[in-house]
Amino acid sequence: MIRIDEKTGIFALYTKHTVMILQVVDGFVGMPYYGEKIRLAETDYLCRTDIRPFTPEQLPGEAVSFHSAFPHAYPFYGCGNFREPAFRAEQQDGSDTCCLKYIGCSMYKQKPKIPQLPQSFTKNCNTETLILYLHDEQAGVLAEVIYTLFQDSDIIAQSVRIQNQGEYPVMLRRVLSSCLCLEGELELITLNGTWARERYMQREPVGYGVKSIGSINGASSHTHNPFIAAVRPETTETQGEAWGMAFVYSGNFYACAEKDFQDKTQIMMGIHPDTFCWELESGKSFYTPEVLLNYSCRGLGRFSRNYHDFIRNHIIRSKYQYQERPVLVNSWEAFYFDFDSEKLLHLADTALACGLDMLVIDDGWFGHRDSDDSSLGDWFVNEKKIPQGMEWLGEQIQERNLKLGLWFEPEMISPDSELFQAHPDWAVQIPDRSITMSRNQYVLDLTRPEIRSYIFRSMADVIHEADISYIKWDMNRQITEAYTPSLPAHRQKEFFHRYILAVYEIQERLLKTFPDLMIENCAGGGGRFDCGMLYYSPQIWCSDNTDACDRAEIQLGTSLCYPPSCMGAHISACPNHIIGRKTDFMTRAHVALAGTFGYELDLMRMRQSEIQQIQTQIELYHEYSHLTREGSFYRLLQNACHIAWEFASPNRTEILVTVIQIRNKANQPRMHLKLQGLLPDSFYIFDGKVYTGSQLMRIGIPVPLMWGDGVSSLLYLTAENKE
Ligand code: DGJ
Repeated sequence: MIRIDEKTGIFALYTKHTVMILQVVDGFVGMPYYGEKIRLAETDYLCRTDIRPFTPEQLPGEAVSFHSAFPHAYPFYGCGNFREPAFRAEQQDGSDTCCLKYIGCSMYKQKPKIPQLPQSFTKNCNTETLILYLHDEQAGVLAEVIYTLFQDSDIIAQSVRIQNQGEYPVMLRRVLSSCLCLEGELELITLNGTWARERYMQREPVGYGVKSIGSINGASSHTHNPFIAAVRPETTETQGEAWGMAFVYSGNFYACAEKDFQDKTQIMMGIHPDTFCWELESGKSFYTPEVLLNYSCRGLGRFSRNYHDFIRNHIIRSKYQYQERPVLVNSWEAFYFDFDSEKLLHLADTALACGLDMLVIDDGWFGHRDSDDSSLGDWFVNEKKIPQGMEWLGEQIQERNLKLGLWFEPEMISPDSELFQAHPDWAVQIPDRSITMSRNQYVLDLTRPEIRSYIFRSMADVIHEADISYIKWDMNRQITEAYTPSLPAHRQKEFFHRYILAVYEIQERLLKTFPDLMIENCAGGGGRFDCGMLYYSPQIWCSDNTDACDRAEIQLGTSLCYPPSCMGAHISACPNHIIGRKTDFMTRAHVALAGTFGYELDLMRMRQSEIQQIQTQIELYHEYSHLTREGSFYRLLQNACHIAWEFASPNRTEILVTVIQIRNKANQPRMHLKLQGLLPDSFYIFDGKVYTGSQLMRIGIPVPLMWGDGVSSLLYLTAENKE
């Protein structure tokens, strides 16, 4: 619900449990409060209008001080706000000051569409949208700051549309999507890492000055995820305040927290300004990607579940979202590049015998690719490996009643490829400068429509020919020497944003052409794990690190923002190919069960006892995967020896707990693991014994003793409905 009090200039945006207060003071919009739903009366003091000498009464004599202290809801550069601005635009005369004054607002029941970008959608849910119009007359710039409230959640989607209503072009140097102004002590949580070590949580105090994360490599990146949370020092999984921003965008991003001289913190997120500038012609608009704002006063657990529910219901469009996903075997860690049609069909036969549903042929099926140094761009069958062709292979797989999935890296071109021979200029490059090589490949200049069309057509041909049900869309190098001949010199900084728009356009086109196609996004593991990608694919490959113990940590970090049901998770060989650790076969399955579930190993090398275990694992998947897809997720425990999590069914009568023992210790007391989210007065049955919900939440469940390292237990509890 949105309430507007025209007399006081106060806008109150109510979600189920939160309220955001926006207030117009002297023509500028401030954010005096965002947090728990409480009743507020006086809010001027939160806008710092009562603090001398920063008083509006002293305007214009003290306007600089006013701007530098006021909690601007959409801060701009140049008039005395010396904190980080959200908006900066250079005008015809070279100046870049813009004073965005409030000139009005409007409200809509429908959520306005953001052209060309992924965005939250409103299916089965009422929404309300508030648009604030902020204007700078000299520059002719109108900023529409857009907040959409979803009736079924505590998430607010925010984006900004900039219109050039002036006569001359304006250079947009910085157009961030969102800003929050918060009071009091805060700590910042970010998800950081690198290849095979993605999204490890860092929590640190927000001090004076600017603390920022971001990416400038063309993707949202392995290094920092486009997500931040600000929490109170006392916030835990189950209590305390947490505010969040998640970016619905997959390109270069920037997020920062800045504590100012009055101990107020502003948190912002948007397209990275260092690699962005946009010429906005007269009469044209620029739309920022959306940020999903989140608040919970009941700890990080509730905070994450807010995001999980919202992403599942309002970001992931795929019809597979709530469906049981096919259990697949992926050829990558099974064969790498070393396969042919015979090996593939053997793998398919074994997969069928084990009860799997899909064979995914990963890298190496095209051009003349035998290692990572050739053929990207040549999306036609590798005749040496599959001489009978893709159509034949598709038929063979279908005859076995299996589905076929295929790997592509559509954004890339190998120097050793037919495509590069024909179009050397299609690689992203700066004329007369060498291209920095990475994984022996270059990036295609997808900002050019003819290149997009070529890629779409060559992919569509194979998908059609071999009746492909699933594609893994990979992206294995970062963008360097960003430049495109399709733009004039002064517009080169539009490249990165145009590039990611192009990626979105091709994925959208594929989904329109093949409505049953399932896309799994991937970027050298989890280098583009973000809400932008989830708009096109119900799942993203979480990491190339498939070791169960590491993976449990990666999945827990990822779960801070993203629902487990979208995390690509496979059971791989032992010792693990990336880190050499040995873990129990069932532990690997228990971890994969908390994601999309599948196999990434040579099934033909399995012993008979392991084949039987595979059949048991698949039974577990069919029995419990509805809990991963539809249930609520709880992080229960994470320390040097153990990791534990829980899924609870929507009606709380089914509980699935996973406990991983990373490292055993002798003579430990029996672990009583406290569960969460149960019906307190219901009776839960586990291992033939009866416990009450409140008992399991207050005292805990006795976890069976486990022997060794890298082992795990799966505990399934059901409630007798005897409340
Ligand atoms: C990186 C991916 O993350 C892997 O799963 C695999 O598909 C390779 N690329 C193939 O080159």
